[in-house]
Amino acid sequence: MPKNRYIVGNWKMNLDYDQTVALATALMNMASTLPPDLEVIACPSPLYLDRVRTTLKQSAIKLGGQNVFWEDKGPFTGEYSAPMLRDLGVSYVIVGHSERRQHLHETDRMVAGKVSACLRNGLVPIVCIGETFEHRRQGKRNAVVADQLRLALGEQMISPNNRVIVAYEPIWAIGSGQACAPDEAAEAGYAIRSQLFELFSEQLVMNNMALIYGGSVDGQIAAQYVDGQIFSGVLVGGASHRADSFSAVIQSIANLSSSS
Ligand code: PGA
Repeated sequence: MPKNRYIVGNWKMNLDYDQTVALATALMNMASTLPPDLEVIACPSPLYLDRVRTTLKQSAIKLGGQNVFWEDKGPFTGEYSAPMLRDLGVSYVIVGHSERRQHLHETDRMVAGKVSACLRNGLVPIVCIGETFEHRRQGKRNAVVADQLRLALGEQMISPNNRVIVAYEPIWAIGSGQACAPDEAAEAGYAIRSQLFELFSEQLVMNNMALIYGGSVDGQIAAQYVDGQIFSGVLVGGASHRADSFSAVIQSIANLSSSS
């Protein structure tokens, strides 16, 4: 896995224009204190991407999309494409978030199309996979995430210039205030990594892919997931929506030594 560490802030559909600008400004103000191997990625509403880009322009904070369409152009009312995101300075895109799979009926096939749109346009997909509480109870977690991973990535042409981040996000842990225990997350992460080694060469997995954890992460627990062995970062929802709680997450990971 690459040495960089990642903190992805998924602002979802929660902040209005002023709140978005205020949060981006707070991030901008802390950016110069961050270690160089730590990539903080802000994913605002697509409507505010351009505005957030202006605020973050002088900083190392990266811009991420929350979604993308699988075609690059065409009659797809209301959608936006990877080239459009790239035009706005976006470098990462969250793909296949469980909220989209659930509320917008996004299928594994659509997720694969979106991953492929990211890869052909030089964007880094953050591919979200994770099991429901019921899957977990039935002991199906590893099988479910392995399937999601294979369907999202198995057919992709991943070149040495591409990077892929896989986010393990147990659905029952998202927004529930009940994070998956770090050992359990690591167990799932280990299974995901083994599956990546089955799908791709060791070199590609080690150099071009990273695995992060998401689900009720806050500043108290974030650092427990970033061991540098299995997980090299976190995807943060709720705690990324306020400057104090997001900076607590960022500081807790920035304080880890980069070798851990
Ligand atoms: P949460 O959201 O941190 O609020 O659980 C995580 C996510 O949706 O990715």
